[in-house]
Amino acid sequence: MKKDTLIVEGLAGKKSLNGEVRINGAKNAALKVMAASVLFDGPMKLMNAPHTEDTNRVAELITILGGSVVIDKKEITIDASSIDSTDLDPDLARSMRSSVLLTGPMLGRYGKVKFPVPGGCVIGARPIDLFISAYEKLGAEVKLESSKGGDQYAITAKKLKGAEIFFNLQTVTGTETIMMAAVLAEGKTVLRNCAMEPEITSLAEFLNSCGAKIHGAGTTTITIGGLGSGGLLKAKHAYETIPDRVETGSFLLLGVLCADNLKITHCNPEHIEVLISHLRESGANIIVTKDTIELRDNAKLKNSSLKPFNIRTHEYPGFSTDLQAPMTVFLTQVGADEINPNSGARGESIVFETIYEGRFKYVSNLEKLGAQLTVMNPREILVKGGASLKAPEPGEELEAYDIRAGFATIMAALVAKGTSVIKNAYFIDRGYENIEGRLAALGADVRRVHADEQPEIVI
Ligand code: EPZ
Repeated sequence: MKKDTLIVEGLAGKKSLNGEVRINGAKNAALKVMAASVLFDGPMKLMNAPHTEDTNRVAELITILGGSVVIDKKEITIDASSIDSTDLDPDLARSMRSSVLLTGPMLGRYGKVKFPVPGGCVIGARPIDLFISAYEKLGAEVKLESSKGGDQYAITAKKLKGAEIFFNLQTVTGTETIMMAAVLAEGKTVLRNCAMEPEITSLAEFLNSCGAKIHGAGTTTITIGGLGSGGLLKAKHAYETIPDRVETGSFLLLGVLCADNLKITHCNPEHIEVLISHLRESGANIIVTKDTIELRDNAKLKNSSLKPFNIRTHEYPGFSTDLQAPMTVFLTQVGADEINPNSGARGESIVFETIYEGRFKYVSNLEKLGAQLTVMNPREILVKGGASLKAPEPGEELEAYDIRAGFATIMAALVAKGTSVIKNAYFIDRGYENIEGRLAALGADVRRVHADEQPEIVI
């Protein structure tokens, strides 16, 4: 993995960022539509696609399978008809959990797929038991094979047969992957206790416009009329990638803490309603139109006058787990003397992570910067407001542990005084395109040192 480093000059509490930031197409929408290319009998195209390491990885996976992928600026054209293998590249697939998205369309179209047991990642175990049990209900046979590179699932199905499937947990990619597999099954499939993320609705609408028969996406019950393994879709038009709601929320949280005038464009404020509601109740003045979010004269709002509040991550439309880390940084800056209306406590907030059991690794970075956090248990942090953050001593580096924690660490470094060094920028690049360029356009001094430029530390 590219070990680039980011050097961040802190704003020392000044709200000096200014300007406009255009939101990219959502990584978590594009990855699914790229996987859906296997359902098509010819080329299909994504517009407004983001350029992230994750989309690059899925492009590589499809290319290694024999498919053709052409990335031209924000357009990705994929033709899966030349795919001549059903074995996902194990190393590549293991490096990114969302490679599991490909297994549904592969199984539906080719009746077999082999892929590595996904490793857990830094935010939690992230098993795929719900995918496996759904495949078995659709009539597939699942074998676990051990190979020198690690255990692999070998799944076969003469043909998938529609079934009634209940997900014990609302799984986003589980809902999407099984929904795509069911498109090519024989007969009707009913999925219950589905996730309701906007990316799922967007995927279903696109597939329906190309011949699929999916009803109920965006609710907990989705019905799919199977077209049979030969019923491949035809790309009648390109897919327009929806705005990235996590990127939108990330820039909004950064803006309230560090910007005077900030306009976030090409976004969908409806997708982060719960975040906007919390920030308004905390004291931020947020102006919203259909596709923009704006802060005006925000420098007049002292962060010490922001009110603390408790946050609980929840499946959509609740507060996104992907904004948990950036929100924790925000809560370190609310007023130490302000009352938390949820608890009556003065200057204290509670962050409760309900989705993952291991998404607090970034706390070590915030503590190095001087934040006062108490990890009460693997799912709960007590955050003290009013923290004045300061870059660690030279030589003491910060590290990006996952995509969103990486952004949160940049946020904290920008709030702080002094120069911070953040290692493993690759993780941030997985979800945020050209992060240093877009922050620089707002007036932030964030520089990238490429791995091959870094001075060898000679011991
Ligand atoms: C999607 O991951 C997103 N990734 C994640 O965003 C996001 O954090 C997550 O949904 C929750 O919103 C993409 O869309 C590519 P889940 P996904 O299946 O689908 C457990 C980012 O930063 N589970 O909804 O993998 C699982 O362990 C990424 O962009 C099982 O136990 O998440 C987790 O605790 C990070 N068994 C919970 O369900 C299963 O078979 C929700 O996971 C599947 C999931």
